[in-house]
Amino acid sequence: MPIKFKDVSYVYSPGSPLEKLGLDNINFEIQDHKFITIIGHTGSGKSTLMQHFNALLKPTKGTIKIANMEITPETKNKNLKELRRHVSLVFQFPESQLFEDTVIDDIAFGPKNFGYSEEEAKKLAAKWIEKVGLPAEIASKSPFELSGGQMRRVAIAGVLAYQPDILCLDEPAAGLDPRAHEQMMNLFAEYQKEGHTVILVTHNMDDVAKYADDVLVMEHGKLIKHATPKEVFADRNWVKQHYLDEPRASLFASELENFEFDENPLTMDELVSEIKNNLRK
Ligand SMILES: Nc1ncnc2c1ncn2[C@@H]1O[C@H](COP(=O)(O)OP(=O)(O)OP(=O)(O)O)[C@@H](O)[C@H]1O
Ligand SMILES: [Mg+2]
Repeated sequence: MPIKFKDVSYVYSPGSPLEKLGLDNINFEIQDHKFITIIGHTGSGKSTLMQHFNALLKPTKGTIKIANMEITPETKNKNLKELRRHVSLVFQFPESQLFEDTVIDDIAFGPKNFGYSEEEAKKLAAKWIEKVGLPAEIASKSPFELSGGQMRRVAIAGVLAYQPDILCLDEPAAGLDPRAHEQMMNLFAEYQKEGHTVILVTHNMDDVAKYADDVLVMEHGKLIKHATPKEVFADRNWVKQHYLDEPRASLFASELENFEFDENPLTMDELVSEIKNNLRK
């Protein structure tokens, strides 16, 4: 079932001096099993939008349809457990999401909460420690002894362990070294190909170019574009006007003055093949 936002607005601290419009009349629909990226400037509303997917924030106005549920301003918290079984969110700062005494218990919490036995949950946790690239001996450590990157992997393992249909990730790979970054992105790409929806907030335009089926572009709480990466980056002036970065391949291509490109290359593979074409001419 597609995810659908209809006229969704969100106001932080309404009626107080700190009142702030976080989302401004958002409308979009995304089909199942896609890899979606959300981009936009700092403060544009990406994290606010993400927190609506699992109703951590509920809209001040409008309706969200997701995982066979409808979320409105009137939705009650007691009805949300089923939603959160299907839609998981890994926060931008996952340290706030960890709370058990050991890494293994932290990862096993989700599966246990959603009906797995203690033993099954621990088994799953051990498997996912490895799959997210953490060493096995980390299992008995306190999550609070870990580095930021490790904490993020623990939070991701804790969510993947119960296989949500829709995986929402707020800048999960920020600050990781290039190899760990690629490993993590491949993990998400594989998860999507297995038949899940992945929604990812990122500032990394190379990841957008390489992985995204669709891009949502946020600005001042508004959705200003919903398109494929090709469409978003085709108009370089539009990208500049909205102070967005470009994929490195596209920037590189723009410096090659005597080359003719059939279309703006977005990934290194596309760039290499365009350069070869030009050299053959
Ligand atoms: N708890 C809050 N109370 C009041 N305003 C908030 C709160 N959280 C966010 N905001 C405001 O809402 C707007 C959108 O914030 P949000 O965190 O969604 O941006 P973002 O696009 O995720 O930014 P970043 O790239 O820095 O993570 C910002 O102007 C921010 O200051
Ligand atoms: Mg954010």
